[in-house]
Amino acid sequence: MTIKGKVALVTGAAQGIGQAIAVRLASDGADLALLDLTKDDLDETKAKVEAEGQRAITLGGDVRSKADLESAVDSAVAELGGFDIMINNAGIAGVGAVETISEADFDRSFDINVKGVMFGIQAAAAKFKELGHGGKIIAATSIAAHDSFPMTGLYSSTKFAVRGLIQAAAKELGAFGITVNGYSPGIVGTGMWEQLDREFAELTGAEVGATFAKYVEGITLGRASTPEDVAGFVSYLAGPDSDYMTGQTPLIDGGIVFR
Ligand SMILES: NC(=O)c1ccc[n+]([C@@H]2O[C@H](COP(=O)([O-])OP(=O)(O)OC[C@H]3O[C@@H](n4cnc5c(N)ncnc54)[C@H](O)[C@@H]3O)[C@@H](O)[C@H]2O)c1
Repeated sequence: MTIKGKVALVTGAAQGIGQAIAVRLASDGADLALLDLTKDDLDETKAKVEAEGQRAITLGGDVRSKADLESAVDSAVAELGGFDIMINNAGIAGVGAVETISEADFDRSFDINVKGVMFGIQAAAAKFKELGHGGKIIAATSIAAHDSFPMTGLYSSTKFAVRGLIQAAAKELGAFGITVNGYSPGIVGTGMWEQLDREFAELTGAEVGATFAKYVEGITLGRASTPEDVAGFVSYLAGPDSDYMTGQTPLIDGGIVFR
């Protein structure tokens, strides 16, 4: 399997890491099905994919909906002529002490981060089997899937859950030529961290930007991650060089968590 000529679906592709993954896979020669909550928000990513000489379709959908994910993989096949790589990237984060997490926040985080990945795995595996070939299923985890940090316990527990899901799905789907792996970024400068930094500032009285800077200070390689740092590793997971790897969630964090 090579990435060139393959079709990949990326969830949460309107911005940040998802957009960078889509553009990187396009530069590797894949056509892209792009999914996010609002179809129009995907226009920028679509233009960037097309600038790499590849085709892109945009799909409005919510990863909390199994029907939306099934319909998305159907659209990839119908409009792009195949389906080979599923990137379950969409996710949310938030700040709050374990003692203060509300039932609504708990449900929303687990629905998007865990249920969303589970439905993505289900939709992709069913389509690969229907098409009669294997494929690559990839999901976003985090450093917070390997270690926990104060005030992000809810986020961390969703990402630990995704690691468990990845391991079980890998064991079940290996016999069908389907690999399941994750990528665990550290501190990436995206809209997600802008929001986390603001929430930390509100909660602790820290200045805006100070929490992000504090976390970056602890990174071995001395800088925050770019979305492209992560996308390069996802390209490896999506391509043939990772064919003999499954059930893994390696850290791509510049040296924050050591395992
Ligand atoms: N930014 C970081 O430092 C960091 C670190 C580790 C892991 N991650 C993980 O990487 C992934 C991408 O993060 P990011 O920083 O690019 O985030 P981001 O907030 O910049 O982008 C996330 C995208 O997902 C979309 N999305 C959210 N909920 C959705 C839903 N229910 N259905 C469909 N789309 C939805 C958003 O609209 C947005 O376009 C997430 O799973 C995140 O947990 C990020």
